[in-house]
Amino acid sequence: SWTMPNYIDQAVAKIREQVGTDEVILGLSGGVDSSVAAALIHRAIGDQLTCVFVDNGLLRLNEGKQVMETFAEHLGVRVIHVDATAQFMGHLAGVSDPEAKRKIIGREFVEVFQAESAKLPSAKWLAQGTIYPDVIESAGAKTGKAHAIKSHHNVGGLPETMKLSLLEPLRELFKDEVRELGVALGLAPELVYRHPFPGPGLGVRILGEVKQEYCELLKRADAIFIEELRAAQDEKSGKNWYQLTSQAFVVFLPVKSVGVMGDGRTYDYVVALRAVVTSDFMTAKWAELPYDLLGKVSNRIINEVRGINRVVYDVSGKPPATIEWE
Ligand code: XMP
Repeated sequence: SWTMPNYIDQAVAKIREQVGTDEVILGLSGGVDSSVAAALIHRAIGDQLTCVFVDNGLLRLNEGKQVMETFAEHLGVRVIHVDATAQFMGHLAGVSDPEAKRKIIGREFVEVFQAESAKLPSAKWLAQGTIYPDVIESAGAKTGKAHAIKSHHNVGGLPETMKLSLLEPLRELFKDEVRELGVALGLAPELVYRHPFPGPGLGVRILGEVKQEYCELLKRADAIFIEELRAAQDEKSGKNWYQLTSQAFVVFLPVKSVGVMGDGRTYDYVVALRAVVTSDFMTAKWAELPYDLLGKVSNRIINEVRGINRVVYDVSGKPPATIEWE
């Protein structure tokens, strides 16, 4: 009968058979799919796997540290950590068009990943966390954002010259199964049950031009929002508000407004809280978060993040708005 331990044994055997003694590289993004793929492949072939984790400076607060702790320290996976923040920021300077930003972020990712891969010339395989819905999606219509989305981490974007065979051990699994597998492989439930995070990261949550200063403010505000969602329990369902929402995050608006603090006037930035409930991300409702939760998040952000003096809540559905602001 089908059980997770049986499934893992089979998947491990299949990977071993496929790659033999070859070396494998994998681009670890911190997301669920690449994380589970890394854990599974590592279970199968240990140090024949090398992960490349590209920190583009557009990740959530402490995310780089968490990825290294989980994989390098806890699971003993060989991970190359590349801090490419300066490179990404440099290329994003002066660019405010959303699609142009996405292109730059995707292109730089490929550049950095390729440069790192070139240092592992013995690698024969490129592993990816492609899951079943991705397979279906790319077989279907290739229009709109859904396609553009995946092009970043999926290596559709990688040049032919890389000449690597693809290893995609999650190709037959649905998201829920990937999550179960991740937990069975020893990944923390908080990682495995995370809300989705777009490939371009905070790059599309800072409206217009991306600046390091904005990134720092946004990371801190976002971490407060997520912390309070996790801490707030809903009596009726027994779940917390992070679990009750499908995606929640803070958006940075490069707009200043006037405020008061003590005896003084402030003239600081505005952020918007976004939280939605959806099953397919094609349509979404704004989440009816409790007022006291919204109030607490607002107070904490304004008190703790100097440089932000106003917090608003986005009450737009999709359609006509999108979930992200860019
Ligand atoms: P929208 O904003 O189109 O988002 O309603 C729907 C879902 O897609 C995610 N998203 C992206 N994911 N690269 C990604 O990997 C992208 O460029 C991108 N744009 C949107 C978004 O976070 C939401 O889950």
